[in-house]
Amino acid sequence: MKALVLTGGSGVRLRPFTYSTPKQLMPLANKPVLDHVIAHVRALGATEVCLLTGDWADAITEAMGDGSRFDVTLTYLRQDRPLGLAHAVQSARPFLGDDDFLMYLGDNILTDDSGEAAEIVGDFRQHRPAAGLVVQHVADPRAYGVAEVDTDGSVRRLVEKPSRPRTDLAVVGLYYFTAAIHRATDAIKPSARGELEITDAVQWLIDQGEQVSARRYSGFWKDVGRADDVLHCNRRLLGELRTDVRGEIDPASELRGQVVIEAGARVVRSRIEGPAIIGPGTLIEDSRIGPGTSIGRDCVVRGTHVSDSVVLQGAHIHTSRGLRGSLVGRFATVGPGEQGDPDHHFVIGDHAQIEMTVV
Ligand code: G1P
Repeated sequence: MKALVLTGGSGVRLRPFTYSTPKQLMPLANKPVLDHVIAHVRALGATEVCLLTGDWADAITEAMGDGSRFDVTLTYLRQDRPLGLAHAVQSARPFLGDDDFLMYLGDNILTDDSGEAAEIVGDFRQHRPAAGLVVQHVADPRAYGVAEVDTDGSVRRLVEKPSRPRTDLAVVGLYYFTAAIHRATDAIKPSARGELEITDAVQWLIDQGEQVSARRYSGFWKDVGRADDVLHCNRRLLGELRTDVRGEIDPASELRGQVVIEAGARVVRSRIEGPAIIGPGTLIEDSRIGPGTSIGRDCVVRGTHVSDSVVLQGAHIHTSRGLRGSLVGRFATVGPGEQGDPDHHFVIGDHAQIEMTVV
């Protein structure tokens, strides 16, 4: 089966990270979001995968390669402008042809622990509705496509980001389509925000009397929009890791729970409490690493404690006060000031966020 993975989107809510990297490459459990997405797409049965890229085409191509490590073939196509998800489907037409396909939003994480999504996709592939939606009950549906679904699973109505949602069923970023979707994307007009909305295309199919089905998914689902989402997904994905120690642990150190220490990492006089992962080439010295923490490659963490955090490649952390619930960017340093100096000294990037506790 074919799958179309969308990697556009400007990632405004994840600045400053998204000044230098697309949100689809943010690491979760030390792997880019897209690694998790493509592994899931493969588990759902897709072997031919198209990554539709926007401004970050080069970075994404370099990071994801030809797909062989996921046992898929990866094709790259470019969406010249971010004009909406239905426009993305139009842009991928040379890849899609008239085949059925899955569309997966490249910032969505579904852990699918119980194989529920796989079962839903299997059901769509068997019954071949014109479009198949995956929906989930959410507390506040206003940020999503919202579906009205009959008891037999037929979708009656679909509205994009309604201010007064009529149900609490949000549309998850995993869709099943037959070639009928192409007539729909050609027929609709841009929405008020100037985009060709996939929800409008699916609504068009409903209006034409085509079968549009929805199935409820109750497993973990989140789109990685904000820093909190990164930390939340990271915790969740770390929880799925099995202990695997390839780096060096000195006798004065202790590992507890599910811990991955990648090859070339060194842990010296430290305690690592899982779920946690320490990247290759990283040194953890005289420190405590708490649950929910991913430390990327080639970092130095010294004389401190870090928990519930994501630390990217090459960062140095050696502050006596610890970090919790933090995202630390590539080659960033967090360290002590001069002895006796009461002030903090910062070089803070655009849209950075610093929270300090007064003691
Ligand atoms: C998009 C879709 C929306 C869907 C959501 C899922 O919204 O337009 O219908 O519910 O993804 O993540 P966006 O995140 O692009 O605003």
